[in-house]
Amino acid sequence: MRALTSKELRQLYLDFFKSKGHAVIGSASLIPENDPTVLFTTAGMHPLVPYLMGEKHPEGKRLTDVQKCVRTGDIDEVGDPSHCTFFEMLGNWSLGDYFKKESIAFSYEFLTDEKWLGIPKDKLYFTCFEGDKNAPRDTVSFDRWVEMGVDPSHIVFLPKKNNWWGPAGMTGPCGPDTEIFFDTGAEPCGPDCKAGCDCHKYLEIWNNVFMEYNKVADGVYEPLAQKNVDTGMGLDRTIATLQGAKSVFDTDAFAPAITKIAELSHKGYEDNADTVKAFRIIADHIRCAVFMLGDQRGITPSNVDQGYILRRIIRRSIRFSMQLDMPDGSLNEIAKVFIDQYAPFYSELEQNREKILSELKKEENRFASTLKKGIREFGKLVAVLEGKTINGVDAFHLYDTYGFPIEFTVELAAEQGLSVDVDGFHAAFRAHQTLSQAGAEQRFKGGLADNTEATAALHSATHLMQAALRKVLNDDNVAQKGSNITAERLRFDFSFPRKVTPEELLEVERLVNEAIKADVPIICEEMTVAQAKEQGAIGLFESKYGSKVKVYTMGEFSKEICGGPHATHTGALGTFKIKKEEASSAGVRRIKAVLIP
Ligand code: ALA
Repeated sequence: MRALTSKELRQLYLDFFKSKGHAVIGSASLIPENDPTVLFTTAGMHPLVPYLMGEKHPEGKRLTDVQKCVRTGDIDEVGDPSHCTFFEMLGNWSLGDYFKKESIAFSYEFLTDEKWLGIPKDKLYFTCFEGDKNAPRDTVSFDRWVEMGVDPSHIVFLPKKNNWWGPAGMTGPCGPDTEIFFDTGAEPCGPDCKAGCDCHKYLEIWNNVFMEYNKVADGVYEPLAQKNVDTGMGLDRTIATLQGAKSVFDTDAFAPAITKIAELSHKGYEDNADTVKAFRIIADHIRCAVFMLGDQRGITPSNVDQGYILRRIIRRSIRFSMQLDMPDGSLNEIAKVFIDQYAPFYSELEQNREKILSELKKEENRFASTLKKGIREFGKLVAVLEGKTINGVDAFHLYDTYGFPIEFTVELAAEQGLSVDVDGFHAAFRAHQTLSQAGAEQRFKGGLADNTEATAALHSATHLMQAALRKVLNDDNVAQKGSNITAERLRFDFSFPRKVTPEELLEVERLVNEAIKADVPIICEEMTVAQAKEQGAIGLFESKYGSKVKVYTMGEFSKEICGGPHATHTGALGTFKIKKEEASSAGVRRIKAVLIP
């Protein structure tokens, strides 16, 4: 087995799939575009959904990538050997090209061949989908593993709960998967311990999903027009396996940050169970915050949506850094370690270095001073508490006055064996503000958007509106900061320093409706990023310079790099109407608009 570093594994993985005819594509932003149901990219498939549904990808039918992902659903597990909020997912994709047999052969070769990872074959275990009323038992995958030389006793069949992707409630492409586990050598937890067991004996390192269904509603699966493969290998977990490390934090990915935390806190990582947990949480959360702040579509801490999750992560790391008595400014020191380490692969971190550091510092200044007072207030509350539950009004007071995210109060309470009336908190919260964090969290857990005509039309309207905004505001610096489309409306965030006047909004509306009336075709062309730039296309140039992108052109009105899908001609859009213009965050405006048929 080769004890590779993170950097070596990333490269080796891409090289392997390149040698199998895959085009290397860059990581998409952590902030999904045009997907109202998730706040962050949680898997490599998010940015590729249109292509899994049948859109043609400009780089072809075989792709490979390293995708930045964030999952905070398991935030309470961070500190154990395998969970992180931010992670990198290595993926290979077949868009209607190869299917189960080739995918399994690729994975087995990469994992076991001496030239690649060289993992001993007897260390690997596998799971396959056992079948149910929606899809048959996956004997094709089972037979293929056996054909590759796997001992059948190393393969088990499991139900949809284990061997199906994606997550509950999601609509969109999905299918059975076969998962690959590494036997850590730990004792089995009982007679039924097998691959798929939660006890940490078998570590999941790779998931090959065979996406041949479109989930249209709960329990309703339709065959997709094409059969796809989506695989995901967690970089940190695989590195931990190869390096024989006892956790993802005991690898080269985290070693420099752990050393830095020890230096700043004058404590040892393994002094006791509390230091292990605090070191790991701080390292994980700061890495995640660095990638969120430094993203192509970077976000800043706020009280809503992505900004709220970011704030919660930073504040949680501040709390644990205080527990270790780390001095002010420590967050920046740790962030610098991660920027230096990851910038060679993620150049956006270097470009956004100043922003990452200044936003972290600002949040530390905002919060650290009230944190101590808040903790004191919390102590007073607990001292006079009758019963075991902190009421919603008190929890809201901690939020409103001391900036304690509700999850934070719940965690502090749990440490003392107490609970919090979270519903009561939300009631108090709603009484003060319009947005419910529960809504944000629910969306965060949700799935992918529908790919309907309505959203395609709103997506096209978004392009026209951005072009119109640039014209009316006479400002080439009007740049997209976020786009979110539901079947009912579009929402568009863009950089601009002041409120847009009602007159300007009317003019934007007029220009968009003029483009709709002109009924020009919406044309999609594939070209290199360099050619797109040369033609004056706007959009995020996040792909590698030489790689191909799609450019959508709407007559003289708009030319923009985009993955699609779009309406076929502007006349199909209806009448465009702006509903609202407001501030989204400092220097960023938000417009909501609709199309009336
Ligand atoms: N999309 C699959 C996963 O995240 C590969 O596990």
